[in-house]
Amino acid sequence: MGGRSFKLPYALLSLFVLVHLRLVLGGVIPGVGDANNISCPEGERQALLEFKKGISDPVGWLSSWGSEDEKRNCCNWQGINCSNQTGHVIQLQLGFDSLEGMISPSLLELPYLTYLDLSYNDFNHSHIPEFIGSLSNLEHLDLSECNFSGPIPHQIGNLSRLQYLHLGDNNLTNSGNLEWFSHMSSIEDLDLSSINLSGANDWLEVVSSLPNLKTLDMSVCNLSLMSLSSFFQFNRSKSFTSLESLQLSDNEMNDIPKFIGDICTLRKLDLSGNNLNGQLIEHINDLFGCAKDSLEVLELAMNQLWGSMPDFAMFPSLKEIHLWSNKLNGTMPKTIGKLHNLEYLDVSLNYLQDVISEAHFSNLSKLLSLDLSGNSLTLDFDFNWVPPFQLDYLYLRSCKLGPRFPNWIRTQRNFITLDISNTQISDTVPAEWFVNLPPKLRSFDISSNQIHGQLPNVSTMSSSVQIFDLSANRLEGPLPLFSTNVSFLNLSKNRFSGPLSPLCKINDGQLDFLDLSDNLLSGRLPNCFMDWPNLLILNLANNNFSGEIPSSFGFLSNLQTLSLHNNTFSGDFPNSLKNCSNLRFMDLGNNRFSEKIPAWIAEDLPQLIVLILRSNKFSGSIPWDICKLKYLRILDFSLNDFSGMIPQCLNNLTAMAHKAYSSTNLFEGFFLLPIFSYIGDYVDSAVVALKGREYKFGKNLGLLKVINLSSNNLTGKLPTEITSLLELVVLNVSKNNLFGEIPQTIGQLKQLESFDMSWNQFSGEIPSSMSELQFLSYLDLSFNNLSGKIPSGTQLQGFNATCFIGNRALCGPPLTPKCPGEETPNQSLPTDNGSTEDDEDNRDEFKKRFYVGAGIGFAVGFWGICSSLILKRSWRHAYFLLLDNMKDWLYVTMVVNKARFWRMFQRQG
Ligand SMILES: *[C@@H]1O[C@H](CO)[C@@H](O)[C@H](O)[C@H]1NC(C)=O
Ligand SMILES: *[C@@H]1O[C@H](CO)[C@@H](O)[C@H](O)[C@H]1NC(C)=O
Ligand SMILES: *[C@@H]1O[C@H](CO)[C@@H](O)[C@H](O)[C@H]1NC(C)=O
Ligand SMILES: *[C@@H]1O[C@H](CO)[C@@H](O)[C@H](O)[C@H]1NC(C)=O
Ligand SMILES: *[C@@H]1O[C@H](CO)[C@@H](O)[C@H](O)[C@H]1NC(C)=O
Ligand SMILES: *[C@@H]1O[C@H](CO)[C@@H](O)[C@H](O)[C@H]1NC(C)=O
Ligand SMILES: *[C@@H]1O[C@H](CO)[C@@H](O)[C@H](O)[C@H]1NC(C)=O
Ligand SMILES: *[C@@H]1O[C@H](CO)[C@@H](O)[C@H](O)[C@H]1NC(C)=O
Repeated sequence: MGGRSFKLPYALLSLFVLVHLRLVLGGVIPGVGDANNISCPEGERQALLEFKKGISDPVGWLSSWGSEDEKRNCCNWQGINCSNQTGHVIQLQLGFDSLEGMISPSLLELPYLTYLDLSYNDFNHSHIPEFIGSLSNLEHLDLSECNFSGPIPHQIGNLSRLQYLHLGDNNLTNSGNLEWFSHMSSIEDLDLSSINLSGANDWLEVVSSLPNLKTLDMSVCNLSLMSLSSFFQFNRSKSFTSLESLQLSDNEMNDIPKFIGDICTLRKLDLSGNNLNGQLIEHINDLFGCAKDSLEVLELAMNQLWGSMPDFAMFPSLKEIHLWSNKLNGTMPKTIGKLHNLEYLDVSLNYLQDVISEAHFSNLSKLLSLDLSGNSLTLDFDFNWVPPFQLDYLYLRSCKLGPRFPNWIRTQRNFITLDISNTQISDTVPAEWFVNLPPKLRSFDISSNQIHGQLPNVSTMSSSVQIFDLSANRLEGPLPLFSTNVSFLNLSKNRFSGPLSPLCKINDGQLDFLDLSDNLLSGRLPNCFMDWPNLLILNLANNNFSGEIPSSFGFLSNLQTLSLHNNTFSGDFPNSLKNCSNLRFMDLGNNRFSEKIPAWIAEDLPQLIVLILRSNKFSGSIPWDICKLKYLRILDFSLNDFSGMIPQCLNNLTAMAHKAYSSTNLFEGFFLLPIFSYIGDYVDSAVVALKGREYKFGKNLGLLKVINLSSNNLTGKLPTEITSLLELVVLNVSKNNLFGEIPQTIGQLKQLESFDMSWNQFSGEIPSSMSELQFLSYLDLSFNNLSGKIPSGTQLQGFNATCFIGNRALCGPPLTPKCPGEETPNQSLPTDNGSTEDDEDNRDEFKKRFYVGAGIGFAVGFWGICSSLILKRSWRHAYFLLLDNMKDWLYVTMVVNKARFWRMFQRQG
């Protein structure tokens, strides 16, 4: 039961531990044959060896299987269980073993096999072999998530002893109806999820008459009420006589099928992710058969239900209510407080409006997990209220709890996760509670409040907390001492002052995230970074740190993000960064670094995507080596003392030339977090000068491709090669000593939005191809030696004349009405109007490109590894589109996926 209340990331973590324990410990309990010295028959041993031949086993799971003498007794092999009387192989437990290949028909030589579990292996799109239907003693068959495709062999229907059949999460098809299935009268546990059953009009008739069926999972089967037409014919009295768990999530139901209320044995109903719309209360009425007395778990998350929460007191057995991500916009009646069995309540991500009081919780003495996040709920309790429950998990993000720090939270001593972020608390730090936090607390988030004052020495409290998010408050004073094993620490956007050195006490090597940005910290960095070899993200931006970068930065070999932006760091380009070979994002901007950029930068930091050196005192020429940074998308060397020529090899910055390297997520595809590291809502952000202004880009930074060399002392021509960076969005070479002509091929840069070459000595005419830059919405060619006529009849006329001034020999609209010796210009007015509209269009396009679709990429980055391991179901990207706030977005990601993890837990027992 406890597993149900798991929340990410612990759910993930535990699952991972589960999987890997098997890897480490060698998994399955040794066969019973061991104890009784029973040996398996030679024929069965040969059959198993034949089976192994068809399988590739990259992890070496089956290394105990072999023909060697010491491996003779196959009852001792990994995953094999023999009968303790006869020595025959009766069980093959090879689930979750990352095996690949084909299933050999030699399994037919195991005539006593009752149990076959091959789940979570990879059979490479092959078909489920038909001979499985001849393993006639099978009682348990698990082929879920095996990467099978093709039709389900109807021979499986011959397995009349089968009690457990899981075929879910493959790419299987079923042609026609389910009649073939109707003889499997022993079936108790059936999982047909992800099989398209829209053509099986008899599905309900068939499954409802399986007399022993207890658990049915038909999620993602394209079932709709339409496909229930047969339902009117089926015999209610003979249907679902023992069903306890019915999962129909991720189908196309727009009503709760009425028969469900009549299943008197039903304990769990999952209709998440359907098209249920209308008032929740009306749908709940459909469950008012005898099922309402037995129902323990009700999952209706991710539908379109609106209205108030119904009077759940009608369901006296309820233990779990999952209603997250609907459109509930009414109130939450106090009757919920009568559900004395309730352990789990999740109504997050709705629009509920209510004041929650003690009465809502009066009898909920068993409540373990409560999630009210993302509603308009005010929690208003008597200051001295002592809740009847002790919670493990509490999520109240964006509810109103403040202004005082809620006292009742201090009565809860079992917390594992506590999230009271953005809850309008503006109180002083509850210092005595801080030093006495609940002993099991792992994740602690009080961010985005107005909590002020000085933190006590946090290390004196229990050392269990590994995830601290205290960001965006008004905390002040020196950095406190945290416990040694913190892994995630976000103290950004506060008023902490003094040196960083108190954090050196975090020396267990687990720290992977440290964000101290936007504080008042100062002084030199201590040389203790060797204690943080797992650090992935280090953000010290917007403080007053000074001095050189300590040599122990050389130990940060996993570092992917480094922002030192806006401090007063000085010295050469930090040599210790040479070892940070995983760096993707590096912002050293707005500091006092000086001297040359070393040539090793490309050799040793080959993964760089963002390189910002803006506003320092770097000098010398720009090394050609930077052209080897083939992933580079943002190159900002502006406001330095660089001299010499712009390297001609810029065309080698191939990420700027290819669309493939464009995504909202900067790191998509290769942001390899250690599995299940918690990264909170962090997203790399950088200030990018664009269209003559500075913008802070966060989520959408990954869509930009920027070269900014402005305000240096560069000379020579603008290399034509630059015009092969076809996806470039921003090009700024202003305020240098560049000369020569604008490359004729400039028109190739079709994505260019912002182009600034002002304050140079460019000469010659403006190339007519410039009019092909249809996204261009900022252009500055002023103060050069350009001459000739501004190409006419183009959107160039839509720009302000100030964009062209300071070029003595330039003429034509918008600068001058006409060029010397020209006829009066024709129809300058319509052109002007048209251009302005274009400009508007462009702006819209800009918005579309940069502000829509945000977030998706990050999900892939964050969950990438997990998804290939566990998640196959489609995610609900649409949610992400609606959410602006990264934190909310991340929260949704977690919530949306949590159901999937519960599935996994239940499956794994
Ligand atoms: C178990 O079998 C092995 C040979 O397979 C034999 O040498 C040994 O004595 C047997 N042990 C028992 C307790 O029967
Ligand atoms: C043999 O297995 C059966 C069921 O698997 C069990 O009930 C029985 O106790 C076992 N006998 C011995 C001697 O281990
Ligand atoms: C599923 O199988 C069909 C053929 O049966 C194939 O066309 C399709 O690409 C497969 N889908 C996936 C996701 O593998
Ligand atoms: C709730 O939403 C429904 C459907 O959008 C709407 O008709 C109803 O007026 C809303 N109720 C409240 C109280 O906002
Ligand atoms: C730079 O950091 C200081 C704090 O050290 C802050 O006050 C200032 O606003 C920051 N400047 C920018 C441009 O962010
Ligand atoms: C640019 O790329 C070409 C082809 O990949 C390579 O031959 C050349 O050496 C590269 N130039 C630089 C300066 O990296
Ligand atoms: C710019 O570079 C030239 C040599 O290319 C040098 O003479 C001049 O002093 C430099 N100007 C500045 C401001 O550094
Ligand atoms: C052009 O820019 C100047 C200076 O920024 C401003 O005063 C003027 O109004 C602008 N003209 C138009 C037509 O936008």
